[in-house]
Amino acid sequence: MKTSASKLQVNTISLGDCLSLLPHISSSSVQLIVADPPYFNVLEEAWDQQWLQAREYLDWSGRWIDECIRILKPDGLFYVFGQLGKREHVFLHLMSETCQRHQFHDQIIWDRVVGYNERRDSFTPACEMILVLRKTATPKFYKEAVREPYDEETIQAYLKDPRYKDKERRLAHLRKGKFATNLWRVPSLKGSSNEKCGHPSQKPEKLIERIILSSSSPGDLVLDPFMGSGTTACMAQKHRREWLGIELDPTYIAMAEKRLALNLQAEVESSLKQNRKVSGRAKIPTTGQLQFFTPPEQKPASLPGLPS
Ligand SMILES: C[S@@+](CC[C@H](N)C(=O)[O-])C[C@H]1O[C@@H](n2cnc3c(N)ncnc32)[C@H](O)[C@@H]1O
Repeated sequence: MKTSASKLQVNTISLGDCLSLLPHISSSSVQLIVADPPYFNVLEEAWDQQWLQAREYLDWSGRWIDECIRILKPDGLFYVFGQLGKREHVFLHLMSETCQRHQFHDQIIWDRVVGYNERRDSFTPACEMILVLRKTATPKFYKEAVREPYDEETIQAYLKDPRYKDKERRLAHLRKGKFATNLWRVPSLKGSSNEKCGHPSQKPEKLIERIILSSSSPGDLVLDPFMGSGTTACMAQKHRREWLGIELDPTYIAMAEKRLALNLQAEVESSLKQNRKVSGRAKIPTTGQLQFFTPPEQKPASLPGLPS
């Protein structure tokens, strides 16, 4: 069993509270952290309703964010997913407080395309913010890995630009696509999507894949302290990264493990079809490998603070 940089098993989702398990991971050991925490009173799930006041949620967030920064490698990146709609203002406080303690790197706007119809007196919310933090050194970042293709019409229009005499060279350049901006248009998952596996806040693979490809390289260690249905693990496995996962709910872990196994099976089948060998590195975790259980933290008493 591979263990490195941590008492948690690599390529396994550990069952428990991230605040109890993160201290078991060595300092400066993880290249990339993808954290998609509870929104705070948006979903009707017990895990999203743990805090009575925004202040409690912000204090809790500060604790796991500080731990993640400790764990992050000096040249690593740390993505923190934000809130939707009526709780967006709480994420603004989270960003402000976090950026006073840690280094801001970027802010991504995720355009979910499909709106979240919850209010009559305002526009329908359809975007989420993702805060990106760095540690101390210039972060590893692979801009070339996430270029966005131009459509054929745009390519043909650009080719007409008389300033470029060498048309073949120009075409090769255009075919590479353009650099991705920090505005990401990725549709949120519809109920009928093949990707959907039953988690109420499952993120699209395309979204997480872009983070993994741009901010890590094969063999790097990726951490997700709120693994849910395993989207980060699946994309890490697909792109040959090692990963560490933490999740409070065993039902979601079972979902994620099934997904990982199915993805790996599909990959093997497709590789066999193409008659090429697949590297045997990715490991399918099984429920038998679950190693920790810590009960969820007791709810602290209500604190006065920011608007809930
Ligand atoms: C927004 S969801 C993550 C969804 C995930 N990105 C996906 O694509 O499936 C947040 C997850 O955090 C888990 N969670 C809540 N509190 C936690 C804690 N203290 N420690 C670890 N996991 C927790 C919830 O059970 C939930 O699955």
